[in-house]
Amino acid sequence: MRKKIIIGNWKMNHTISETSKYIKEFNKLLKNENLKLDFGIAAPFVCLPEAKQTIKDLKSKMILSAQDCHFEKAGAFTGCISYEQLKDMAIKYVIVGHSERRAMFNDTDEIVNKKLLALVNSKMIPILCVGEALEEREAKQQNKVVTNQLKKNLKGIDKEQMKSIIIAYEPVWAIGTGKSATMEDAVSMCKHIRKTIASIYDDETAKKVRIQYGGSVNDTNVKAYLSNEDIDGALVGGASLDASKFLKLLKEVY
Ligand code: PGA
Repeated sequence: MRKKIIIGNWKMNHTISETSKYIKEFNKLLKNENLKLDFGIAAPFVCLPEAKQTIKDLKSKMILSAQDCHFEKAGAFTGCISYEQLKDMAIKYVIVGHSERRAMFNDTDEIVNKKLLALVNSKMIPILCVGEALEEREAKQQNKVVTNQLKKNLKGIDKEQMKSIIIAYEPVWAIGTGKSATMEDAVSMCKHIRKTIASIYDDETAKKVRIQYGGSVNDTNVKAYLSNEDIDGALVGGASLDASKFLKLLKEVY
């Protein structure tokens, strides 16, 4: 049985002081809850040390993720943060290939592949985002697009490494738009992703991989998505920015 996992992707939101305030408030509200899922936040780089310390001080079970990394260990890459620097900070989870990175920062499939390889070789846990654009869905090309992304992004990753990777299906047209995918479309794509992993690797590997849905997930639709056995969690943007609202969303699931 795959354990559900919900990660709140803060994107470029919250300052350092807001970060500790958020985690403290979240933890206080969480006190009497027994959430049976994995949950956490993907905070901006500058907020990670404060988040890490606050989580440690409060003995919180919150997972801490980064939103991206560079695939080189170190070097002349002005403005970048390497996987090694994150590892040194004991950050295990890293989002890779988010559609905003692909669209605005030229994260090609080849670059995403290099980031994934760097992370799994360091025993870190990537959250790989894949998903089609609106025109591609309208042209009924979504399965083909996602298959291509998976094949290119997962090149050189072996079976054991694959089991540690989390995949987030995020249709680009559903991100930050309030237009979430229908249940049918989300389930059908998550099944397609699992089938593709089975064809690249095998059934046993495919069964182990957790596949999230992301794109306008909120406290009114999260339960329906996650009650489906093919959807193992969610990547939540806007609805994760407020601690009490995010906790309300998590409580909807269990
Ligand atoms: P959203 O973002 O929930 O605001 O649509 C999701 C994401 O980008 O991961």
